[in-house]
Amino acid sequence: MADPWSEPPIGMLAELTHRCPLQCPYCSNPLELESRGRELPTAEWRRVFEEAAALGVLQLHLSGGEPAARPDLEELVVHARATGLYVNLITSGVGLDEERILRLREAGLDHLQLSIQDVDAKHADMIGGYKGGHAHKMKIARAVRDAGLPLTINAVVHRHNIDRLEQMIDLAVELDAHRLEIAHVQYYGWALLNRKALMPTRAQLDHSNRVVAAAVERLRGRLVIDYVVPDYWARRPKPCMGGWGRMVIAVTPSGRVLPCHAAHVVPGLSFPHLRDQPLARIWRESEAFQKFRGTGWMREPCRSCERREVDFGGCRCQAMLLTGDPRNADPACELSPWHRAVLELAAAESEGEAPFLHRRPMRSAPELPATVLPAPDG
Ligand code: SF4
Ligand code: FES
Repeated sequence: MADPWSEPPIGMLAELTHRCPLQCPYCSNPLELESRGRELPTAEWRRVFEEAAALGVLQLHLSGGEPAARPDLEELVVHARATGLYVNLITSGVGLDEERILRLREAGLDHLQLSIQDVDAKHADMIGGYKGGHAHKMKIARAVRDAGLPLTINAVVHRHNIDRLEQMIDLAVELDAHRLEIAHVQYYGWALLNRKALMPTRAQLDHSNRVVAAAVERLRGRLVIDYVVPDYWARRPKPCMGGWGRMVIAVTPSGRVLPCHAAHVVPGLSFPHLRDQPLARIWRESEAFQKFRGTGWMREPCRSCERREVDFGGCRCQAMLLTGDPRNADPACELSPWHRAVLELAAAESEGEAPFLHRRPMRSAPELPATVLPAPDG
């Protein structure tokens, strides 16, 4: 039987740029944003896509930042499509207009994923830190459907918008989306910095679970709904990235190759640059990808757990951020000795008040508050 850990990645996450006109306080980009001057030029991205297709990647997710900030986006789509990749654009919609959507369709774009911050302009523009953003997104969603492109709406939910979840689902139907991704904030990068402002209460989470379950039934056959629950309130972790170094390969704007977008929080790992090694060698041989591939690195309770090849021990980055060691089970798991502390933290922070710190390039990146929880007794 083929070793599932020796397969090529299914997807590539290409962060074309960290530039973005929006300033969402839950942005998953690192606190230290890469500047425009460090971004890979067109020709190098084209080579990356060729190498990705040759390696066996099937789906390319063009992301950022805001990928529409790159004037060469259409050219990149043409080239990616010519290599045989399925091309998905993950966008805020700002930087697109009707003509550009038609150009992207002609370039071969297969699918577009549009983020929304809320259901109405006042709340949405406050969260995104961009006046007029919501109204523009509504125009873009309609233009995408008019162009005949499949549309996913991505709604990131948290304490300040989750009470309007029913309306967000109605909006996705009204916009004729094929898929709605309702994702509770995951606490990395800027979201971790804003955790106290974003954490939903247990009651809000329970309500959102009921709303989603009812909508999945009601809209079956009309709208596909994917739902990502918040780790801190979970009983079992998510299989982050489908397992480290197993399904996804991520590339930063400057050309560093990572197993996931947050992997830089794991100390002691260095991430190869595309200019220094072929992508296939990075995927197969680099220490960064080998480190947590498979199950050999696991400790108890994961090592002897029957779910170890189901959730792969959860998220290495979250284990690092909350327990101080990426080899520990993700503390979202109720078998983790840190699990109770995570629940208590979620409960305490969901009742607290904190201002948003919006994402923006700064002269020096803001410092994360200490996030490692005290070691549990025993
Ligand atoms: Fe997953 Fe590890 Fe928890 Fe088992 S102990 S459910 S492998 S995180
Ligand atoms: Fe890095 Fe989960 S975000 S392994």
